[in-house]
Amino acid sequence: MNAVDLGLLAADIAREAGELAARRRSEGVALAATKSTLADIVTEADREVEQLIRERLRAERPDDGFLGEETGAEQGSSGLTWVVDPIDGTVNYAYGLGAYAVSIAVVGGEPVPERWDDVAAAVCVPAAGELFTAVRGDGARLDGIRLRVSDETPAGALLATGFGYDPATHDGDLATVRRVMSMARDLRRMGAAAIDLSYVAAGRLDGYFERGLNPWDLAAGALLVREAGGVASRLDPDAARPMLIAGAPAVHDRLRALITGTGTPR
Ligand code: IPD
Ligand code: CA
Repeated sequence: MNAVDLGLLAADIAREAGELAARRRSEGVALAATKSTLADIVTEADREVEQLIRERLRAERPDDGFLGEETGAEQGSSGLTWVVDPIDGTVNYAYGLGAYAVSIAVVGGEPVPERWDDVAAAVCVPAAGELFTAVRGDGARLDGIRLRVSDETPAGALLATGFGYDPATHDGDLATVRRVMSMARDLRRMGAAAIDLSYVAAGRLDGYFERGLNPWDLAAGALLVREAGGVASRLDPDAARPMLIAGAPAVHDRLRALITGTGTPR
């Protein structure tokens, strides 16, 4: 299977998984457990959706590896790994907010963000009926239409960020917000990293930054941003909470400079 076919498979499974998530949401959501902190939850649907994705991949790509938020890692023999977030934005999902997504990426090499090679990705946002797709070297699309990142406007950049589940990290994250506000026209906190990144790719946001994302939060979205002409990079990749920064090249560079303290406010 070439990258385009892998992308079609990712899109097909993401669409099916998105339908299951939406169906379960309409039936009412059952909390299954809490994870790293009380705020970090998993629902029955997260598990069921990941199971569906895993089974479909096992049937169609038995030699590939798997790295999923809920069921963990399994090494493959083909050199490819599927990096999966069954429901990104679980808190939104549990609260009945529509900003949740199924995020599926396939990468080559070691399944570590700085070392993997992007291949293909799909992000399905069921509540909006939207499917974002990307294939390395072939662009990023929303429902088949080519995407392009946006540049900062004279009014500044529309930025998004997120906060981790550990309350001990909130002060540090708020200090970062204070630093970047000099280039912002406003700031959004959507609650799903895969959607934030898809929106950067689509030019609905000019830039995005967040510390502490997991590989499955960013794998698909980072490829979408890159294939839409943007840059997605991580600061402090070996730290406990690396910082992901994404946007059009100029926005990305300005964000990075402000966050590292090497940039001057406007
Ligand atoms: C979370 C969301 C959220 C981000 C967190 C992620 P989850 O993923 O993407 O926007 O701020 O860092 O962990 O737990 O909903 O899959
Ligand atoms: Ca996630």
